[in-house]
Amino acid sequence: MCGIIGYIGDKCAADILISGLSHLEYRGYDSSGVALMHGNDIDIYKASGKLINLIEILRTKSEVTSISKIGIGHIRWATHGLPTTTNAHPHTCTCKSLTLVHNGIIENYQELKEELAKTGAVFRSETDTEIAAHLIAYEYGKTQDLLHAMQNAVKKIKGAFAFCAIHKKEPNKIVVAKRNAPLVLGVGQGENFIASDIPAIIEYTKKAIYLSDYQVGVVTKDDIKIYDDMGNPVVNKVEHLPFEAMAISKMGYKHFMLKEIHEQSDVVRNNLSGKLIDHNKKVILEDFKLSPEKIDKLSRIQIVACGTSLHAGMVGKYIIEKYAGIPVDVEASSEYIYRDTIADEKTLVIGNYQSDETADTITAIKQVKEKGSHIAIITNRTDSTMARLADSLIPVNAGIEVSVAATKSYMAQLISLYLLAIYLNEAKGIDKYKDEISLLKQEMIELPNKIEALLENTSEIQRVAKKYSSFKNFIYIARGINFATALEGALKLKEISYINATGYGAGELKHGPIAMLDSDMPVLAILNTGVVYDKVLSNCEEAKARQARLIGVTNYISDKDRRLFDDLVMIPDASDILSPALNIIVLQLIAYYIAEYLGKDVDQPRNLAKSVTVE
Ligand code: F6R
Repeated sequence: MCGIIGYIGDKCAADILISGLSHLEYRGYDSSGVALMHGNDIDIYKASGKLINLIEILRTKSEVTSISKIGIGHIRWATHGLPTTTNAHPHTCTCKSLTLVHNGIIENYQELKEELAKTGAVFRSETDTEIAAHLIAYEYGKTQDLLHAMQNAVKKIKGAFAFCAIHKKEPNKIVVAKRNAPLVLGVGQGENFIASDIPAIIEYTKKAIYLSDYQVGVVTKDDIKIYDDMGNPVVNKVEHLPFEAMAISKMGYKHFMLKEIHEQSDVVRNNLSGKLIDHNKKVILEDFKLSPEKIDKLSRIQIVACGTSLHAGMVGKYIIEKYAGIPVDVEASSEYIYRDTIADEKTLVIGNYQSDETADTITAIKQVKEKGSHIAIITNRTDSTMARLADSLIPVNAGIEVSVAATKSYMAQLISLYLLAIYLNEAKGIDKYKDEISLLKQEMIELPNKIEALLENTSEIQRVAKKYSSFKNFIYIARGINFATALEGALKLKEISYINATGYGAGELKHGPIAMLDSDMPVLAILNTGVVYDKVLSNCEEAKARQARLIGVTNYISDKDRRLFDDLVMIPDASDILSPALNIIVLQLIAYYIAEYLGKDVDQPRNLAKSVTVE
């Protein structure tokens, strides 16, 4: 987590750094800071709390800060030390000649700290980053060259990092380095940019160079030089950035989350494009490289993911097992990596993620790669670390997602998992579900229109959200393929409104949770016509008998059963198998409108970050 930014050119560095940081806020937002260089001086400005606090400070000093044309900046998600101004980046060495921002975690910082203390280093913060500043400065003392100092220092550092460093004695350059943390260099004319992620620089340039792990670079106004871990100069490809600046604006919506919820019909269209052309044609997954013979020999599939992506994986299990007849395990990456997981060359491991750098999932993928399993990645970022590790890619084409709470990326993952299940079925030549799959394909093609119909009028959802916004606890129930929808809907409510919501398989209610039910514990039930519809209805009866207020989300209700519910939200008609894609939109909106009604910071909920780069 954390975001870093750097600028060197002829424009006002402070403006560019602040604009960049504002687009990196999804990576963390508990404190921020910039270092601005002018002549041989470096001025540092830091603030705890949201970026606006730093902007206020810079505004009062604009006469001084506007002069600088070189600078580095940082937005923090605290790992080592409280989110205070002192712990905010940039950090400096003892004599303050070297200044540094860092994204990542330095694992051996205690050990390095002890060694550096012996050299007289004076520590001012509780962060691991400050140790790196002292270490690079120590190496600078030996080499009097910032590039060499960085090259020597990174060899001594264990862990993950993306660094940007400036030095008073070398005022016309920024030195960068990277290992297991993202860093992109934006290429301009007479100016260059450095950032943790593309949104920070897309306004200024469409050309970028991705730094690889173990590379170190020197960025000046007119040049970018990159060196490998042996110190040899290397040339990295200049790539065209895929995103439009428009994609990172709210486009008139109050929050990114609402905008992204409303983008879901297009997300489905984009994801299906070129993959599902007609209900009579086979699914095409161009970058899925497992041959039909190898698919036939697969003995198991493992889906590794975290949070929302894990919930998408749970839906995936249901459909892949059904249509491809291959056992599927879905596991949180953080659990998967600390046991002796059984995977071999007959295992397909699917990594599913919405950001580009979830540490737990990266570790899981790295571990299993050594076991010879085929690795397929469902990704919104084909340029990510995991995508590079993968044997097969399933790009989801969801466009950039800014809101910390994942919505449209979840939709895109669901669609990819449906496509994969059908693809595997067709590769194996399983005839059993031919007609059902043909109907499913047709329904998937029509899904964007149904999503639009659902989103056209959300007044009922808003009414329900307002009505229930004062409750402190919720239970969400569902069964079958919508079990994961209940978990995901409850997670959405928790993360943006801080209300306690727990998802249960509806059949599990009577095995314990029912004890909590009374009129203060609303139960939201998802019930779609299909095998478990009547069962969920019975579970709703059980809840009602305990005075719980019942909210139903359904595609059908008879007049007889309607009386059971205090409130009902209807979705467009959908088959049970595809209903998670519609039901989740209702749950996303309920969470959104409750949080919005309560005045919460919807796009940047407390304590969270979009990319979770720590294990
Ligand atoms: C919730 C959310 C998180 C992420 C989780 C994993 O809205 O976004 O639960 O899904 O942190 O991140 P990825 O999917 O990038 O691995």
